[in-house]
Amino acid sequence: MTDIERFKENSKNKIIHGDCLEEMNKIPDNSIDLIFADPPYWMRVEGALYRPSGKEFDGCDDHWDNQFNDLGDYETFTRAWLSECKRILSPRGSFWVIGGMQCIYTIGAIMQEIGFWIINDVIWHKKNPTPNFMGTRINNAHETLIWAVKDKKSSYTFNYKTGKELNTDTVSLEDYKKGVRKQLGSVWKIAVCQGEERLKDENGNKLHSTQKPEELLYRIIAINSKIGDLVFDPFGGTMTTATVAKKMGRDFLTIEMDQKYCEYGAKRVANAQIKIGEIEKASFDTRMPRVSMNEMIEAKYFTIGEKFYFKNTDKYIILESDNKVIYDGNQTDMHSAAALVSGRKANRLNGWEYWYVVRNNNFVSINDIRHKYIKDMGLA
Ligand SMILES: C[S@@+](CC[C@H](N)C(=O)[O-])C[C@H]1O[C@@H](n2cnc3c(N)ncnc32)[C@H](O)[C@@H]1O
Repeated sequence: MTDIERFKENSKNKIIHGDCLEEMNKIPDNSIDLIFADPPYWMRVEGALYRPSGKEFDGCDDHWDNQFNDLGDYETFTRAWLSECKRILSPRGSFWVIGGMQCIYTIGAIMQEIGFWIINDVIWHKKNPTPNFMGTRINNAHETLIWAVKDKKSSYTFNYKTGKELNTDTVSLEDYKKGVRKQLGSVWKIAVCQGEERLKDENGNKLHSTQKPEELLYRIIAINSKIGDLVFDPFGGTMTTATVAKKMGRDFLTIEMDQKYCEYGAKRVANAQIKIGEIEKASFDTRMPRVSMNEMIEAKYFTIGEKFYFKNTDKYIILESDNKVIYDGNQTDMHSAAALVSGRKANRLNGWEYWYVVRNNNFVSINDIRHKYIKDMGLA
């Protein structure tokens, strides 16, 4: 067992009650597979805010968010915890941080200064943002996430196809049901944490002012980690990260300085049920065993002479043999034909993702049939 493996074994699935700056010191270099950080935003809220009804708005004016005297103070704190995150992050790992307009520019600037390599920034577009009660500015309906890796040379886990499965932002529900998938984009439409998911204290009030929605963490953990990876959160709060990590079959380690949040969060994690499906396994990104069209024809999964229809059109090719098809009277292969029919500037596209056959009056992706063959034959 290496030192890192020993550390992971000894510290997995723990909630540490303490200051993250002191506690991160104890974590070895390069040992964490995925970090999600939701730090104090330093919102600088002054005075009470009221809804138009006159009821006071329960915003974020907590001590942990207001603990900074000035920008220099906030920068020192930010530089300290970001540097620790960079040190403990595995070269194959990913680092995510979330922030509002109050802090994300400071965080992003320091990240670049200390050598993080930024992969993307993501807009969390809130489906149900808090209105601007006073009507003094436009409604602030988003927060920003930054996804970065240890440095430019990092070869990080990225479940690209799993990301496509999660993209319901630019694909309508109707199209999604028909099998349409598009690249996951950088604007994520997710509701603010509400309803049953929102933790309440002993008086039935909101436990934490900035509890994040599980869906946000679900996406991040799904695209940037594997089952059994160690997910770390230095600012645990209600333990959203730990809860989602557990549900998805990952290990977690988290730090939170408030005892009450630790206690409620620990119960939340204990109640979380593990549920492993194709997204959690990142099956879409798993390399499939190679099978030939011929063997699937022999096993009667496809038939010579049948039509393969291009996604959402009436254009088709005719299957002629193992890797030959006819398009518009000419012999070609299904990958070249896919490029031709798509009109895109490419000589070949992955035909498995574009062609559909008719089964029981429905269009079925030939890729789904290939998956079924592999499963039926016990090859995966
Ligand atoms: C923005 S909240 C995180 C909310 C969390 N993502 C959730 O979904 O519940 C930040 C949390 O960091 C904690 N915190 C602030 N400074 C800290 C520090 N130095 N060490 C550990 N925790 C800290 C606060 O108590 C607060 O719960």
